[in-house]
Amino acid sequence: MNNLNIHCLETERLILEPISIKFCSTEYVNWLNDIEVYQYLDTGGNYTLEGLSDYLTKYTKNPILFWAIIVKETNSHIGNIKIDPINQRNEIGEYGILMGDKNNWGKGYAKEASKAVIEYCFQTVGLRKITLGVIKDNVAAVKLYELLGFQIEGIYQMHGIYAGKFCEAYRMAIFNHENPLVQNYFEKL
Ligand SMILES: CC(C)(COP(=O)(O)OP(=O)(O)OC[C@H]1O[C@@H](n2cnc3c(N)ncnc32)[C@H](O)[C@@H]1OP(=O)(O)O)[C@@H](O)C(=O)NCCC(=O)NCCS
Repeated sequence: MNNLNIHCLETERLILEPISIKFCSTEYVNWLNDIEVYQYLDTGGNYTLEGLSDYLTKYTKNPILFWAIIVKETNSHIGNIKIDPINQRNEIGEYGILMGDKNNWGKGYAKEASKAVIEYCFQTVGLRKITLGVIKDNVAAVKLYELLGFQIEGIYQMHGIYAGKFCEAYRMAIFNHENPLVQNYFEKL
């Protein structure tokens, strides 16, 4: 594996900037307290500006692969994406995304940001595999992950209560481009 330094990434419509305290805002707190945003997540609903500030300060001091997603055209912060934790011995990272600004859902931003981060992690960081967990009922997220090339590796039964009912959870993964399973990954997307 190569180094774990985090850099700014740029796509056609987005800038991915390392997360820092400068992204602490009322809008960000509101995302984390919006049931539509957090209904399939394991946290949310009880954030304060102070709590968010503490959380972001931690990552400013000890950076991890965690980016704020910014729309170039409007210079607005619309969500976050991260690869954390990283298992260095086995070269595996855990993906997570939160597009907090619902006005920007369905515009392809999550897909665009994810492709850039996955490419960076495979080509620059040298990860071998990226994994994630998702609640089966989170239709938008499951569809996004399938489009990105993630495959289901396991299913947890009755994993927890989300949106008022017991749900199954998928563990999904994608291997790096040297793996024949996803050869030509970047060309296919
Ligand atoms: C899931 C989430 C990341 C999707 O973000 P987004 O920016 O709206 O997604 P995109 O516009 O990039 O969509 C990518 C693909 O996902 C699928 N998709 C997105 N929203 C969908 C929806 N509501 N229903 C079905 N498929 C959907 C589409 O297939 C889309 O590709 P296409 O437009 O080429 O067909 C976003 O809704 C979110 O952050 N939700 C709250 C937090 C969360 O659940 N995070 C994931 C935890 S595992």
